[in-house]
Amino acid sequence: MKTSSLKLKTFAEYKKAYKKSVENPEKFWGKIAEEFTWQKKWDNTLSYNFSIPEVKWFEGGKLNITENCLDRHLENIGNKTAIIWEPNDPDEESRHITYRQLYVKVCRFANVLKSNGIKKGDRVCIYMPMIPELAIAMLACARIGAVHSIVFAGFSSSAIASRINDAECKMLITANEVYRGTKRINLKSICDEALKKTPTIENVIVYRRTVEPTEMTAGRDKFWFDELQKVNQDCDAEVMDAEDLLFILYTSGSTGKPKGMVHTTGGYMVGATYSFSNVFQMNDENDVYWCTADIGWITGHSYIIYGPLCAGVTTVMFEGIPNYPDYGRFWEICDKLKVTHFYTAPTAIRSLAKQPIAFVNKHKLSTLKVLGSVGEPINEEAWHWYNDNIGKGNCPIVDTWWQTETGAIMISPLAGITPTRPTFATLPLPGVQPALMNEHGEEITNIHEKAEGRLAIKFPWPSMARTVWGDHQRYKEVYFSAYPNMYFTGDGAYRDATGNYRITGRVDDVVIVSGHNLGTAPIENAMNEHEGVAESAVVGFPHDVKGNALYAFVILYPGVEATDELKKEIRDLVSSTIGAIAKPDVIQFVKGVPKTRSGKIMRRILRKIASKDTSNLGDTSTLLNPEIIQEIIDGAL
Ligand code: PRX
Repeated sequence: MKTSSLKLKTFAEYKKAYKKSVENPEKFWGKIAEEFTWQKKWDNTLSYNFSIPEVKWFEGGKLNITENCLDRHLENIGNKTAIIWEPNDPDEESRHITYRQLYVKVCRFANVLKSNGIKKGDRVCIYMPMIPELAIAMLACARIGAVHSIVFAGFSSSAIASRINDAECKMLITANEVYRGTKRINLKSICDEALKKTPTIENVIVYRRTVEPTEMTAGRDKFWFDELQKVNQDCDAEVMDAEDLLFILYTSGSTGKPKGMVHTTGGYMVGATYSFSNVFQMNDENDVYWCTADIGWITGHSYIIYGPLCAGVTTVMFEGIPNYPDYGRFWEICDKLKVTHFYTAPTAIRSLAKQPIAFVNKHKLSTLKVLGSVGEPINEEAWHWYNDNIGKGNCPIVDTWWQTETGAIMISPLAGITPTRPTFATLPLPGVQPALMNEHGEEITNIHEKAEGRLAIKFPWPSMARTVWGDHQRYKEVYFSAYPNMYFTGDGAYRDATGNYRITGRVDDVVIVSGHNLGTAPIENAMNEHEGVAESAVVGFPHDVKGNALYAFVILYPGVEATDELKKEIRDLVSSTIGAIAKPDVIQFVKGVPKTRSGKIMRRILRKIASKDTSNLGDTSTLLNPEIIQEIIDGAL
């Protein structure tokens, strides 16, 4: 893909490619897929039926994704840095791993997996910190056709156990400890707790991140380093069908237990790499790309590892956190590693924007060319802060909309090519056919008139998840039942008269007030525009007359006084931005709101607090900040 003629260079080329991709999707994707290394070409580009649902891309094609990430780069860019690893502690040395070194490490660890009985199709759970061995472990699984299931190394033992049991994993790969800011966390003891309830696990491989003594269970637990000594570094890539499983990744649903989204080999590779190359436009061989996500999330899978490595670029892995040793750490790393392409989440941008600007201005940030945003709608204020202070007005911002389920970016500007607009993810990538649906379940087809509705996708794309592990019925119900023959995203969207999309948030967060459909995200955006407001979360609660009313939890910037006058100003701002109907009935000033470890606000809990129904808040153990809940309840109005 690196030198591919399929990388779009101008807006006119984008428009032409988009048109072609809609007229003949199979021909379009087939041409892109030909840019990769296949052991055997596919027989059938696409077969699908959304009512079963069943989707198959490049069936009969034989390949291994690691040959595309590693082997085929050896000849031309074997000595180029594949991964730069930046440790938690700025005084510890960074590691630079070339494509050739990574290839050797992956092959060797793949042999460790084999010698411990892992074969094609077996599931392997990986629970590791952001160290290169996490990348090596996942690629080693892919090398031998084992299915990795990565669990974010911030999840609790019960979350690990339920994911291991759901996928019936045979092996667990972990590290003894992890550094996070000033903390040192014993991952192995968390695993040991989980392992009491996971009968399918036969072996545990433990990487020693620290020299501390580690408790090992004889016969089951083995050190990474010891196992490496027993094997050589030659490992042929397993022959995989394009539709063979590559990985499972769990994502939370609006109800019930997490869903193990299943991604397959060929389509995922094509989608992740094509989108990466076109969205980020890394056009200089010295460009350095840094995505701050954790590999435990889909963003890390597609845009730290598979997409960037297939594209042959240098990708940064950061072990630490944005505020250690201080709030300038991200910017310090950008200067140190000469980062050119930087990709992060709005929640990180907002929290850094709350700090004194000196944390930014201490650093030059002169190498940056492109900025990215992912994971939630980026509000106008955060967009401008990012654009002005980090990009210095010179870096296009790619606001990338996608999901665990979509595997790859779906709607986004192409950097430097698509005209950007604050808070708009703009236009669909070639090959992506969005549909905006009205309240009657009909598609709003007039793209020349602005409209708002629910976002669906009406044609398959290669990197879409194929099923929910062990529960195909749930896959059908959640994604293919809202609209006939379409994939339903669960998101709302606004489309302007030029076809640009703005994602307005989950439609599960819509509140009907006096019969009016109100999205909580635009209300929050409006409140966040107030100069005293750092962040806010709005939920609905039952109201005798209106059906529902709005309750706003508002976090103020440090030093801003929480007064009734301020509440009035915030209400008036909502009123003037959206309308009087959107004014929150209740505003509670809080220090924080409960968030998942991926930074999403846990609205389910806020809804209960707003409804004065706090007897059963459900499982709060996997939250980032569970302690905030009692504080909010105590202050509830
Ligand atoms: O609501 C959308 C929001 O995040 C959801 C997907 O979450 P997850 O599967 O955890 O994947 C996050 C990383 C891709 C979507 O349904 N979302 C993601 N990106 C954006 C977004 N909302 C608005 N703008 C975005 N750029």
